[in-house]
Amino acid sequence: MRAEKILILDCGSQTTQLIGRRVRETGTFCEIIPCNKYPDDDSDAIGVIISGSPFSVHDKDAFQPPLERFLGRKPVLGICYGSQYLSQALGGSVARAEIREYGRALLSLKDAGSPLLRGIDEGSQVWMSHGDTIVSLPANFRCIASTADVLNAAFESEHSDGRAPIYGVQFHPEVFHSTQGMQLLRNFVVDICGSSCSWSPASFVESTIAQLKRELGDDKVILGLSGGVDSSVAAVLLNRAIGKNLNCIFVNHGLLRKDEYGQVLADYRSLGLNIRGVDASDRFFADLAGVTDPEQKRKILGRDFVEVFNEEATRVEGAKWLAQGTIYPDRIESLNISGKVIKSHHNVGGLPEKMQLKLCEPLKWLFKDEVRAVGMQLGMPVQLIKRHPFPGPGLAVRIIGEVTPENVRILQDADDIFIRSLREYMVKDSAGASVPLYDCVWQAGAVLLASVRSVGVMGDERSYEHPVALRAVCSTDAMTADWADLPHDFLAKVSNEIINKVRGVNRVCYDISSKPPATIEWE
Ligand code: XMP
Repeated sequence: MRAEKILILDCGSQTTQLIGRRVRETGTFCEIIPCNKYPDDDSDAIGVIISGSPFSVHDKDAFQPPLERFLGRKPVLGICYGSQYLSQALGGSVARAEIREYGRALLSLKDAGSPLLRGIDEGSQVWMSHGDTIVSLPANFRCIASTADVLNAAFESEHSDGRAPIYGVQFHPEVFHSTQGMQLLRNFVVDICGSSCSWSPASFVESTIAQLKRELGDDKVILGLSGGVDSSVAAVLLNRAIGKNLNCIFVNHGLLRKDEYGQVLADYRSLGLNIRGVDASDRFFADLAGVTDPEQKRKILGRDFVEVFNEEATRVEGAKWLAQGTIYPDRIESLNISGKVIKSHHNVGGLPEKMQLKLCEPLKWLFKDEVRAVGMQLGMPVQLIKRHPFPGPGLAVRIIGEVTPENVRILQDADDIFIRSLREYMVKDSAGASVPLYDCVWQAGAVLLASVRSVGVMGDERSYEHPVALRAVCSTDAMTADWADLPHDFLAKVSNEIINKVRGVNRVCYDISSKPPATIEWE
C-alpha cells in the first residue's frame, strides 16, 4: 500500500472515476471505495472526497457516508451530492431546486481568499448537474462562491480549533467543462491535504519492478496476452522483473482484426517476450456455428477461451502464478444502482484448481491513461500503446447474425479499410500539431449486419448484400461515450472504398448513438 493517498467515497455518480483520474493527475495516489465501506485503517489517507450520486439526500435509499469516521480528522471535499449530504447531516438544509441546474454556470466568488479557490477567476465556468440545492449552510460554515441560480455553490467550514477543514462544491470540478476544476482539485489535494505529488508512471515502474522481483523470486508466471494495451504492458513490466520465467500465451480465436494474429505475435517477440501462440480458430468457428444470440455467443467464446487457455497453461511445468492485465476500473466496486448485467464481459477465467496459482495483477491500481504512460516509460512501440480497446470476444460481437469464416472475412476487410484510413487521415490537435484521426477517437471498428440484406445496384447489376455500420466513439473510460464527429470527406472516402473493394457489402452506415442509451459494441 502507498504511504499517502486520497480516499474517494463513491456514492454512485457517473463521474466518480473521473475524480480519481483528476486526483492522479496531481501526482497523488487515490483509491475509490463504495461510500459504505470506509476502511478500518485510514492512516495513509491524507484527505477524503465524497462523490456525487444519482440519489437526492431526501430519498429513503440515499447513500450515507459515515462522516463520524473521518470528519475533523481528515480534510474533506464534498462534490455535488457529497456537498449536499455534508450540509444536511451537519445541520443545514437541502431542498428540491425550483430551477434545476444542468450544464454551464459561472462562479461569482464570495471569498477569493479561500484556500479552495486559490487561482480561480471571477466568472469561472463550472458544470452543474443537480436537482437539489443547499438552502442554508450548517452553523460555522460559510459560502465562498455562488452562481446565478445557486446561492451556496461552494462552501467551507470555519472551525478554528485545529479540526481538519470541510469543503463542499455543488458543481463538478472533475469534468472537462469546469474550466478551472483541475485547479480547484489541486488546491484541495496539494494545498489543503498536503500531498507530496510523488506518484508518477516513472516512480510506478521503478517501484513495481522491484516489488515484483521480491514477490516472485524464481517462480514461474503464466500470462494470457490479448493484443490489447493492458495485458501487453503487464507482460513487459513482468518481463523486466523476471525475464524468461514469464510464460505468455496468445490465443487466436479467429475473431481478431485482419492479419492481427501474426503481426501481434511478431510485435511481442520483438519485445523479447517468452510467448506461445495458439491458433484455435477452427474450434471456435465450429462451436459458434448456427449461433446468433449475443449472450450465447459470449458464453461459448468465454468457455472455449478458458478451455484452450487452460490446456496451454497446464503445459507450463511448475507455474506458481497467473498474471493478468487487470486495471483499476475493472476492479472498482462501483455502486451499481440497478444491479443488472448489461453484457457478460469475459476475460481469462479461473484456471484449474489443481494448478493452485496465485494471482499477480501489476496494473491493478492504474487507470487506462496511466497504463499507456507506463507503457511509454517502458519504451514500448507507440503503435501498441495507442491501440484502441478491443473486446475479448473480438469480431463475434460485431457480427449481427451468425459468426462464419466468410462473415468474419467480410468484416475484417471492411474494418481494415476503416482503421487504416483512420491512421492515414491527419488532423490538427488542440495544440495545432498534426496527428492521425485514429489517435483522436477512443475506439473504432466496423460492424457487419450479417442478418440484414438490402438492394443496391453495382454496374448494371442488382445487388442484394449486407450493410456495414461504422462505429467510432469518444470516451475517457468506456463507461459513457459519444459518437465521434468524423469529417464528412473522410466518411465518404471510407464508404466508397468499402463498397468498391469488399465483396458482400453494398451499403455503409455511420452509427450516431451515444452511450447510454446505446453501448459501444453492438452485441
Ligand atoms: P460496451 O459495449 O459495454 O463496451 O459499451 C465497453 C468497453 O468494453 C469493451 N468490451 C469488452 N471487453 N471483454 C472485454 O475485454 C468483453 O467481453 C467486452 N465487451 C465489450 C468494449 O470494446 C468497450 O471498450
